[in-house]
Amino acid sequence: MNIVDAAQKRYSTKKFDPRKKLTEEQIRQLKNLLRLSPSSVNSQPWHFIIASTAEGLARIAKGVQGTSSFNEPKVKDASLAVVFCAKTDMDEKYLEHVLDVEDRGGRLPNEEVKAQINAARTYFVNLHRFDLKDVKHWMEKQVYLNMGTLLLGAAAMGIDAVPMEGIDVRAIDEEFGLREKGFTALAIISFGYRAEDDFNAKAPKVRLAEDEIFTIL
Ligand SMILES: Cc1cc2nc3c(=O)[nH]c(=O)nc-3n(C[C@H](O)[C@H](O)[C@H](O)COP(=O)(O)O)c2cc1C
Repeated sequence: MNIVDAAQKRYSTKKFDPRKKLTEEQIRQLKNLLRLSPSSVNSQPWHFIIASTAEGLARIAKGVQGTSSFNEPKVKDASLAVVFCAKTDMDEKYLEHVLDVEDRGGRLPNEEVKAQINAARTYFVNLHRFDLKDVKHWMEKQVYLNMGTLLLGAAAMGIDAVPMEGIDVRAIDEEFGLREKGFTALAIISFGYRAEDDFNAKAPKVRLAEDEIFTIL
């Protein structure tokens, strides 16, 4: 599929058909997209909780109760839901871990390159930790980039989806013990196939005009 057609056709699905399920192969491909998404200095400050069973979806749905209950059916009727979680801190131990993974993956040809990569990554991470004091926001930006990658990827695969920030972060963090593990929930994306009567499927896609959002030099 042409990628611009996919971007045009995708929309935020407000009502899923609970009878229509993704295949194992589609789920595998979506998981690959999650892993392959880029992040600043390859920091990968994320974790994903993935559910495709009724029990798993019900656990994630604990995060869309109360004031977030408008999103509950979008989780329960979906075929797959992914909770996007961001790290809450990034320390030297984690940087060593990423470096080790890159080393074992064959990305670092010698000790000199390894030291350079480590120094550059540590520089940027510490810039956000100490100078800018925005390391949480910085990590969350990486996770949002991943969300965008997955939304477009799903659209290109002909899969319907909806991103949801309207969630109870505390409830999800508690349900999955995220804070103890150094993570916090940011958003959920549900995947599946639209219900025939999803009002949003027929609404035209409306965006700000080109001359408002582009400065062409
Ligand atoms: C970060 C983010 C959070 C969103 N949160 C919700 C949400 O909680 N519930 C919902 O129904 N839609 C949510 N949306 C969907 C947006 O309203 C939708 O993307 C926007 O109106 C554009 O429409 P489209 O996705 O159909 O092109 C969210 C979208 C984004 C990107």
